[in-house]
Amino acid sequence: MSSKHFLSVADHSAEALLAMLDRAAELKRLLAKGERPQTLQGRTLAMYFEFPSLRTHVTFEAGMAQLGGHAIFLTSDHIGIGTRESAKDVALSLSRWVDVLVARTQSHALVEELAEVASIPVVNALTDLLHPCQAMADLMTIAERKPLREATVAYVGDGNNVANSLILAASVLGLGLRVATPASHRPTVHVLRRAEDLARASGARIEVGEDPAEAVRGVDFVYTDVWTSMGQESESDTRRAVFRPYQVNEALLAHAPDAWVMHDLPAHRGEEITDEVLDGPRSIVFDQAENRLHAQKAVLEAVLEVGG
Ligand code: NVA
Repeated sequence: MSSKHFLSVADHSAEALLAMLDRAAELKRLLAKGERPQTLQGRTLAMYFEFPSLRTHVTFEAGMAQLGGHAIFLTSDHIGIGTRESAKDVALSLSRWVDVLVARTQSHALVEELAEVASIPVVNALTDLLHPCQAMADLMTIAERKPLREATVAYVGDGNNVANSLILAASVLGLGLRVATPASHRPTVHVLRRAEDLARASGARIEVGEDPAEAVRGVDFVYTDVWTSMGQESESDTRRAVFRPYQVNEALLAHAPDAWVMHDLPAHRGEEITDEVLDGPRSIVFDQAENRLHAQKAVLEAVLEVGG
């Protein structure tokens, strides 16, 4: 299935995702030489954010500037979708002015509604269900160290938006992925079902369980994310207790002696990951953050059907 939007990695074929990853790597190499291809010259991006953001905001805005385009940052205070005006009217208006919309909405249904109505491409910059731009940067970071189809990844912690997108990405592209979450916080059921279908076609090996030590045993990459995502702050005490056995620390990593460590950031240091691990020699967390810039430039070029 192909889509003019980028709401989920699962809406795109393996070929399409690999083409974006190749282009992202090329854009990274070019920037290192000081080259900034002006593929988005004259194009305008509107960004609509309901939650705070460092990496996503800066990388989309810097990415547009590097490719010769322009970005406008809007928050729910500016727009008030659902209070000041409807999602439909916002999407129809933005479609008359700008070339592409990047949206970070609490509800996944809202980004789908915007995409349904907009005549311009809509890119999902995180919802309660998915974080596909992060998954693209993660794949790029993994591919810099290991061919994707040979890579084994363990995701340890909350079965949240980041986990869901990683599961779908691994399923489309044929990675090995072991997920360990508490039974009460498994990845989303319909995501797991879709992943099973995709994995049948790609040969991906996806296993979902509860034991972090078993999940990380012998893998190439150990991935974790916050225990309390944006919008869940009232649950943080309960979550801290439920997830304690899932902390990525030196003791857990003893089961994965050759693994790189990944985290999408922001990190709650001392909760899901220790300082020692995040700042340690196996951490590739800031490579992931760097790759957001290039992966998203490639996504923008793809949805706008321009590029190198
Ligand atoms: N799961 C986290 C990811 C932040 C980039 C959240 O939704 O807050």
